[in-house]
Amino acid sequence: MTLKLHTIIVSTRPARVGPSVANWFHDFAARHRKFDASLVDLADFALPVYDEPNHPVMQKYVHEHTKKWAASVAAADAYVFVTPEYNFNPPPSFVNALNYVYKEWNYKPAGFVSYGGVSGGLRATQMAKQLVTTLKMMPMYEGVMVPMVAQMLDENRNFKSNEPIDRSAAAMLDELFKWASAMKPMRG
Ligand SMILES: Cc1cc2nc3c(=O)[nH]c(=O)nc-3n(C[C@H](O)[C@H](O)[C@H](O)COP(=O)(O)O)c2cc1C
Repeated sequence: MTLKLHTIIVSTRPARVGPSVANWFHDFAARHRKFDASLVDLADFALPVYDEPNHPVMQKYVHEHTKKWAASVAAADAYVFVTPEYNFNPPPSFVNALNYVYKEWNYKPAGFVSYGGVSGGLRATQMAKQLVTTLKMMPMYEGVMVPMVAQMLDENRNFKSNEPIDRSAAAMLDELFKWASAMKPMRG
């Protein structure tokens, strides 16, 4: 069974670090070979603050940006959110993108790669886990956290991983694949 993984860059500001970390993770996931891996950049969708007139459960989307985002979310069997921490929380761009659709997220597993200062974005991950369960996603226990992310970039802003981070990434992908396989039949 081929299962699709979307690694999603959820910070959208200019000069963000998100793509550096996400490019590394996406390459790692592709080499891990369990999933058919794709990289998705939330910035490409330019989602405004939630502006649909109907509740997303109805899937009566009126805006093109929503239809495009819904199609992207629907195409995956599992997600990895690459997220920073803004004031101990997930960035508003991430929360906004989660709110935009509902059924497209349902019954799929979610992993987190978080980064930040000394806390490695863990507080943002913990907050985001609560939110994704409302969308009927299953958050993974296994996770990747990157403390002091600025020190992990080379002169070209490429992310330089290390052995413990690689190990946590492999463990999270193994678990994500188990859950993605188990949850696929739950979707009607
Ligand atoms: C509005 C804002 C709030 C932040 N709050 C935190 C924080 O609570 N904890 C933390 O570790 N880093 C915090 N940072 C620093 C970020 O970890 C760092 O800027 C990181 O590069 C943000 O990810 P991004 O570049 O992909 O947007 C904050 C940065 C911004 C812009």
